[in-house]
Amino acid sequence: MTEEYAPQPIGRLYGLGIGPGDPELLTLKAHRILTAVPVIAYPTMENGKVLARAIVAGFIRPHQIEIPMPLPFSVERSSQPYYDRAAEKIAHYLNAGQDVAVLCEGDPMLYGSFMYLFQRLARQFPTEVVPGISSTLASAAMLGAPITFRNDVLSILPATLDAANLRDRLVGVDAAIIIKLGRHFAKVRGVLEQLGLLNRALYIERATQPNQRILPITEVDPTKVPYWSLILIPSQTQPQ
Ligand SMILES: C[S@@+](CC[C@H](N)C(=O)[O-])C[C@H]1O[C@@H](n2cnc3c(N)ncnc32)[C@H](O)[C@@H]1O
Repeated sequence: MTEEYAPQPIGRLYGLGIGPGDPELLTLKAHRILTAVPVIAYPTMENGKVLARAIVAGFIRPHQIEIPMPLPFSVERSSQPYYDRAAEKIAHYLNAGQDVAVLCEGDPMLYGSFMYLFQRLARQFPTEVVPGISSTLASAAMLGAPITFRNDVLSILPATLDAANLRDRLVGVDAAIIIKLGRHFAKVRGVLEQLGLLNRALYIERATQPNQRILPITEVDPTKVPYWSLILIPSQTQPQ
């Protein structure tokens, strides 16, 4: 007698953009998937801070399995082993036929940690990416600063670049958003000053969150700049 072969169904991987902080900025789609999946994974910072989970905490149900993924938010450290371990954990649930949603602050495909999991898992497992409202765009709304008019070009730059590189990319820029500020703030501020861009630069931290702060850039204490902050240099083009 031959045993019938019943292939085990595999789970679906979701990269869920959950927006910049205000839970009302979740899309209907992200909310539907978040509240339906059995397993939720999210990055945790080395200092234990978990922004992505906090954004959607009010929607997580007690029966949902949670996978915290410790990831190094630093360019100095190789993050490969961290992503390998996280991918392994997620694959375990997917192989058991359970859908897994990875929470992604902002949009998953813009400097998102999900991209590294996508590279590792999307060929093996059915995968869907749900776009989210990026902090870059939400910040413009919070600052009341239109970013680009007409043929303006927008540059998005990580503050982790060295000063010379930042300077080269900011010379003659139409509009720019500088992310990953944190301890790189003083360097960025110096470059903006050299290029005469300080008077155009707008600073915001924790955009759309209850503790959002908008400060004149000259009043920002470089020692207190959180990772969740950015500088926006809006276009100077005069709309007609
Ligand atoms: C690794 S990037 C991730 C960007 C994210 N995928 C997005 O679309 O917003 C993290 C950087 O985004 C910026 N950021 C994220 N959330 C923010 C917020 N609520 N307010 C201000 N900046 C934020 C900060 O510059 C932070 O260092």
